[in-house]
Amino acid sequence: MRLDVVTIFPEYLEPLNVSLVGKARARGRLDVQVHDLRTWAYDRHNTVDDTPYGGGPGMVMKTEPWGDALDTVLADGYEQGASGPALVVPTPSGRPFTQALAQELSEQPWLIFTPARYEGIDRRVVDEYATRMPVYEVSIGDYVLAGGEAAVLVITEAVARLLPGVLGNAESHRDDSFAPGGMANLLEGPVYTKPPEWRGRGIPPVLLSGHHGKIARWRRDEALRRTTANRPDLVERLDPGTFDKYDREM
Ligand code: ADE
Repeated sequence: MRLDVVTIFPEYLEPLNVSLVGKARARGRLDVQVHDLRTWAYDRHNTVDDTPYGGGPGMVMKTEPWGDALDTVLADGYEQGASGPALVVPTPSGRPFTQALAQELSEQPWLIFTPARYEGIDRRVVDEYATRMPVYEVSIGDYVLAGGEAAVLVITEAVARLLPGVLGNAESHRDDSFAPGGMANLLEGPVYTKPPEWRGRGIPPVLLSGHHGKIARWRRDEALRRTTANRPDLVERLDPGTFDKYDREM
């Protein structure tokens, strides 16, 4: 998968060199290119923003630097053999970022991120590129960040770990909270590792029993308990058909 990020803070994307995303790059699963938007500013002050039409507070990012940047990124990508670009526009006005959306993005061959500062990007930029490629306007949550760069890091990490060959243990997203399948839409319950006792605290005995059926039952009960406590909205949306008779006794 190819990822391009156009930003006025390229250094903000440095975490893309470490941990899981860094490893995915090192293994050749991900080709990440970060570009400085100011490369495409056209005056000596490197201006990329201006006052909003209609008035109001804040500044709006200008069409021309974004247009020139995206044209260049697209041309370079095509020249290097990439195809099927999709634009990912982080914005608090976007659709909510979910595991399902992470999955959908992980199936795209080429994502181009346009994290904005200030009040956002002149709308004509999105409208222009939407005529040529899919555009995902994505919000990572109901809060306002100072810019979209942190959202790019969040989205990239969630997407990269779904790429084949990136996670060490291919099993390890099967039980994820929000993963489709068995524990779909339940939050994962608590986990434990050695030592068996710490500061007087032990391990739930069932986990030491070696009884796979009982362990699976316990994990599901804990997942239901935690989801009920922390995300009652998720419990309400569960398909009643997914409850078994033991769930109903809880
Ligand atoms: N930019 C500012 N706030 C954001 C959010 N919540 N999600 C995505 N991009 C953003």
